[in-house]
Amino acid sequence: MFITFEGIEGSGKTSVLNEAGKRLEERGVPVFMTREPGGSRFGAQIRTVLLHPENVPLAGEAELFLCLADRAQHVREHIRPALERGECVLCDRYCDSTLAYQGAGRGIDEAFIASCNRMASGGLLPEITFLFDLDPAVGLARAMRRNTQTGKEKTEGRFEAEELAFHERVREGFLRLARTSPERIVVVDASQDAARVIENVWSVLERACGRR
Ligand code: TYD
Repeated sequence: MFITFEGIEGSGKTSVLNEAGKRLEERGVPVFMTREPGGSRFGAQIRTVLLHPENVPLAGEAELFLCLADRAQHVREHIRPALERGECVLCDRYCDSTLAYQGAGRGIDEAFIASCNRMASGGLLPEITFLFDLDPAVGLARAMRRNTQTGKEKTEGRFEAEELAFHERVREGFLRLARTSPERIVVVDASQDAARVIENVWSVLERACGRR
């Protein structure tokens, strides 16, 4: 089973992914946890240039092709093999991030991105996508706090440094995707306390795993 976690900066998706993975493993489900950008060795190098705050201005198109190169390698080297081994793959960001950030955020044609996504992913779609929805002002404040505490703002802060209006467009882009793919995308209210958010996600996962 292939499950992705999406949302704006500071939406808490990574912590929920880790907790969900832990719970699945405790129940004996083999789990492969990964992320984009940076899920492969090659992708880790792409991640460094993509997120570095000194790489500005970076053309939206340059961003797009970096994300796609990362995905093409990640799917072929890690995601597909893990699915073939029968593992449950939990991925932090995937194709929807490209549509939301480079499409809605940067203004690149979304039909073109969808077609690029199909090529980069080899047509591999997640069965479930959790979209952690949150007011970008709240999410950004959380992400900035985390970045300052971990020193990440110096190496990975390029997107957090974007203006609020950019993050508002990204959020709207994600919500639009959720409206067009309600059978796949589960919107989670990420403004609730962490325990509640985890229970929301877990109830969906338990049901989905029980069906298999
Ligand atoms: P991530 O490490 O998930 O950031 P955070 O934990 O702060 O949410 O993702 C890094 C950044 O990469 C994020 O700001 C969004 C961006 N990104 C894109 O713009 N397009 C993409 O296709 C992907 C996968 C990520």
